[in-house]
Amino acid sequence: MDEEPISIQEAKDPGYQGAEVRLRGWIYRTRGSNKMLFMVIRDSTGIIQCVASRSDLGDDLFTVAKDLPVESSVIVIGNVNKDDRAPGGYEVHMNDVRTISKADRFPITKDQSEEFLRENRHLWIRSRKMNAILKVRSTVTGAIHEFFRKKGYHEFTPPIFTPNQAEGGSTLFEVKYYDRSIYLTQTWQLYAEAAIFSLEKIYDVSPTFRAERSKTSRHLSEFWMAEMEAAWIGYREAVQIAMDEIRFIIKKVLENNIGDLEILEVDPDGLVHILEKEWPVITYTEALGILNDKAGMDVQWGKDLRTVEEEELMKLFDTPVGVVEYPKEAMAFYKPVLEGADAPGPVAKCFDILAPEGYGEIVGGSERDTDIESLSMALEKEGESVESYDWYLDLRRYGSVQHSGYGLGVERLIAWICKLENIKDAIPFPRTMTRAYP
Ligand code: 4AD
Ligand code: MG
Repeated sequence: MDEEPISIQEAKDPGYQGAEVRLRGWIYRTRGSNKMLFMVIRDSTGIIQCVASRSDLGDDLFTVAKDLPVESSVIVIGNVNKDDRAPGGYEVHMNDVRTISKADRFPITKDQSEEFLRENRHLWIRSRKMNAILKVRSTVTGAIHEFFRKKGYHEFTPPIFTPNQAEGGSTLFEVKYYDRSIYLTQTWQLYAEAAIFSLEKIYDVSPTFRAERSKTSRHLSEFWMAEMEAAWIGYREAVQIAMDEIRFIIKKVLENNIGDLEILEVDPDGLVHILEKEWPVITYTEALGILNDKAGMDVQWGKDLRTVEEEELMKLFDTPVGVVEYPKEAMAFYKPVLEGADAPGPVAKCFDILAPEGYGEIVGGSERDTDIESLSMALEKEGESVESYDWYLDLRRYGSVQHSGYGLGVERLIAWICKLENIKDAIPFPRTMTRAYP
């Protein structure tokens, strides 16, 4: 009877050395002469070099195997041995190669442009780079669930179709909804605020949609946000929870993905170092002072920080930084004013967390205004009909309490951890203003 297939990673266990193994996967690289065949195969767990001479396989099989193009699916059988000369450090001496499906000539060859790789994302997803990123991604989302569940939070699932905006009307995706129109969600927030009166502490990891007109390396039209909302807490506590969450995620990546970081050429010591340090929390007003003193940038008080300013600021830090108390004026309607703040104008009980190395904002959050009057005024100022938010204002009518929450941009965090040049590589099939294929 045939032995059970094992993974390439398992084949590298000391227990298998010298033993006959059966591996299944795809041809990653192949080269051969008239006499010898070198075939590197890959599966989800890694790559391994497989070799055979003409006499090992016999003339017919040798010829068939030698002509198999890359990405053909195969089963190979042979003896595995540690071999420092082989790429990956192990080698399988093949006595059989079974073709499952012979591939056509694979369109992705060396030195392709980023655009070509995105056009062929359905195939590029097999690359070692994408494989490593997607494994990190799986750790990141798993860690988010683990972090919140351990703290007694409930997972809460928001609707994706929504009649209201929460993060500004200009980035709403309007879609046909029977004989009327509706929007795709920009944030779970308004629904989360309803749910905390039942569950108190909730979180989610969920798709989010924004019609971003900017073609930057940090914006997607469809991205995943990990949000939390909790009753009875203020925005300063939320900052600490967000920092703890990010630390927890990084720890999990260091536990599970060292090999993947290596493939991505990310030095894990950098992440270890970040975990060892304190992460500062500064106010927006202090941030402007720092930008002025240390970067010679004169930013007008009252404006939200732009990408350039965040980048300049974060050149001065080597850990994530919490920036709190942005000007109320520039903020979404639901962020309440902080009374008695030491600032040139009204500021909100809100925060962002910025990542170093130019990655910018990874978290945005705040306390939520509980005052119907000021909420209604702020909505009107944004040009909204207050009536259509009546259900939301109800939450202030029936036992309102202090509450706060935030959203972590999953792809922004992955891009930073994996040191990706573009956020598009942090998600399997990116959607942007210019791309919705494949
Ligand atoms: O700062 P934002 O807009 O905050 C909210 O939506 C709040 N309602 C969240 C809350 O309090 N529950 O978005 C949160 C995070 C940002 O910090 C950023 O990391 C990410 O979502 N984000 C994007 N990521 C990729 N592409 C985009 N277009 C993004 N827009 C926001
Ligand atoms: Mg924000």
